[in-house]
Amino acid sequence: MTNTEIVEETIAFVKETLQGAEGGHDWFHIQRVFKTSLLIAKDEKNINILVVSLGALLHDIADAKFHNGDETVGPKLAHTFLTSIQVNADVIAQVIQIIENISFKKSLEKTTPNFNSIELQVIQDADRLDAIGAIGIARAFNYGGFKNRALYDPNIAPNLKMTKEEYKKSSAPTINHFYEKLLLLKDKMNTKTGKKLAAERHQFMMNYLEQFYSEWNGTPLERN
Ligand code: ADP
Ligand code: NI
Repeated sequence: MTNTEIVEETIAFVKETLQGAEGGHDWFHIQRVFKTSLLIAKDEKNINILVVSLGALLHDIADAKFHNGDETVGPKLAHTFLTSIQVNADVIAQVIQIIENISFKKSLEKTTPNFNSIELQVIQDADRLDAIGAIGIARAFNYGGFKNRALYDPNIAPNLKMTKEEYKKSSAPTINHFYEKLLLLKDKMNTKTGKKLAAERHQFMMNYLEQFYSEWNGTPLERN
C-alpha cells in the first residue's frame, strides 16, 4: 500500500469507529486536528508526515473516559488496525507512543514526559489549538451545557489550584474554564506555527470575554 492509501484506509476506520462519539471528540474534531497537524508540519524539518497523519487520525480513537478510565484501549485498537493493514512496524511503534502520550490532561500535569518526538509535538499543538479560539469556545459551552453548568456566575471565582480530582467534580461555570485551562494553552505550544496560531486564537478569546462581560453588565464597549 502507498502512504496515501494507508491514510485513506485509516480515515475510513476512524470515521467508522467514531460513529456516535460525543460532540467534543467526534470525527470532525479528528479532521480538524489532522488538517491543523499537516499545516503545522509544513514548517518543521525532518518530520515524518505518515507518522503525523496516523497519529493525528488515531489520537482519540478510544477516549479513556468512555472505557472506565482504561488508557490502554486506544493504543491497542490502533495497534491492531495498523498491523491489519501492514504498516511498517517502526511507524506503528511511533504512532502508538504518540497516542499514549498525547492526552491534554496528562501533558498539562506531567513534568517529565516519558516520550517525545517532533511528530508528537505537532499533534499535541493541533489538539490544543482545537480547545481554543472560536471552536474552543463552542466546545467549552457545549461541554458546560452537557454538564448543566451555568454560563457564568460573578460570585464563583476561577480556581487555579484545583487537583485533577477536584477539577473533575467541580461544577464551576463555563467561563471559569477559560481561566483554569483555555487561556493557559498559548504558553504550552511546542512549535513555531503552533505558537502563532495559538496567539491569534488567544486574542480572539480575550476579545470574546471582553464582549461577554460588557453584555453581561449592560455596559457597551466603546468602539471607534
Ligand atoms: P481533550 O480531549 O483535549 O483531552 P477534554 O476531554 O478534557 O479534552 O475536553 C474536551 C473539550 O471540552 C475541550 O474543548 C475542553 O476545553 C472542554 N472542556 C473540558 N472540561 C471542561 C469544563 N470543565 N468546562 C468547559 N469545557 C470543558
Ligand atoms: Ni483530541
